[in-house]
Amino acid sequence: MQDKLQQLKEKALPEIAVIKNESELTELENKYLGRKNGEMTELMKGLKELNSEEKKNTGQLLNEIKKEIEEAINKKREVLSNAGFNERVSKEKVDLSQPYLPKKESGHLHPNSIVQKKLEDLFVSMGFLVLDSVELESDYYNFEALNISDTHPAREMQDTFYIKNHGNWLMRTHTSANQVRAIEKFGAPLRMITPGRCFRNEATDARHEHTFYQLEGVVIDKNINFGHMKAVLETVARCLFGSETKVRLRPKFYPFVEPGVNGEVTCFLCGGKGCSVCKQTGWMEIFGAGMIHPNVLKYSGLDPKVYSGFAFGFGLTRLVMLKYGIDDVRLLQNGDLRFVKQF
Ligand code: PHE
Repeated sequence: MQDKLQQLKEKALPEIAVIKNESELTELENKYLGRKNGEMTELMKGLKELNSEEKKNTGQLLNEIKKEIEEAINKKREVLSNAGFNERVSKEKVDLSQPYLPKKESGHLHPNSIVQKKLEDLFVSMGFLVLDSVELESDYYNFEALNISDTHPAREMQDTFYIKNHGNWLMRTHTSANQVRAIEKFGAPLRMITPGRCFRNEATDARHEHTFYQLEGVVIDKNINFGHMKAVLETVARCLFGSETKVRLRPKFYPFVEPGVNGEVTCFLCGGKGCSVCKQTGWMEIFGAGMIHPNVLKYSGLDPKVYSGFAFGFGLTRLVMLKYGIDDVRLLQNGDLRFVKQF
């Protein structure tokens, strides 16, 4: 067996020496050292038949020869890869007179994300959680738990897309759908916002789209009152449109708040004098808000005698349109890069 080992070595080393490329070298490596059917491996199997003295000597020799072959292969591999590198470098040229290559285009945020992130930062600085929620929503969270029963006329104003043969599932019509979900999950006290995509069954035109974004907020604690709500909404308005901005709250009915308001801010363009953006009124409507209705608190598992709170919903898509002077809502989601690249 020792003879066979010597023979193997005498055969292998010259073969390795004349190899010209890396793939042939790997082939050779498998031929001699491969775990399956490698010549060395086959010889090793013979060790079993030897007595212990022979086994020791032969085993030692086997290891030495194996190591020698391995080293020869590794050395050769290094030589070959250097040779490849040198060959490549010798062929390469650097043309110093070549004009620089155009910069690779990188992506950027959609205008909707820019405004959303700005508001998220503001709310986080005021201690609000930023929550995500589902877009395919149950009738219960979108309507029922918000004090909008099956036959309530308010459903008419928020027609949406229902899932065929699953009467209780629909595309949420507003981010308010996450109010009760969030209160159930986090309990009181709570400060959270939840931005996201909403859907309505609308005939689309320059001002209406079946898919749009809102940003909802909820604050709940003991002794929360209307003044707290106004202060928060004024802070948001100033962050968005500047420190001179005034907020006007006018009564408006939403089944899930009482009292409910419609929130307007002084037009950032004309400062309240009247222009085309504010349709000559001096005011721009940007949110709905109100004190959370006791029934909604009950649906959420809170006692309205202990806790009170307010909720608000900004039309995020509308804010984006106002900020950038976009006059057609459909531009925001039609995927036309000529539009998106302007931001
Ligand atoms: N969800 C209402 C809408 O979509 C807005 C709103 C939110 C009003 C919270 C009051 C309180 O019109």
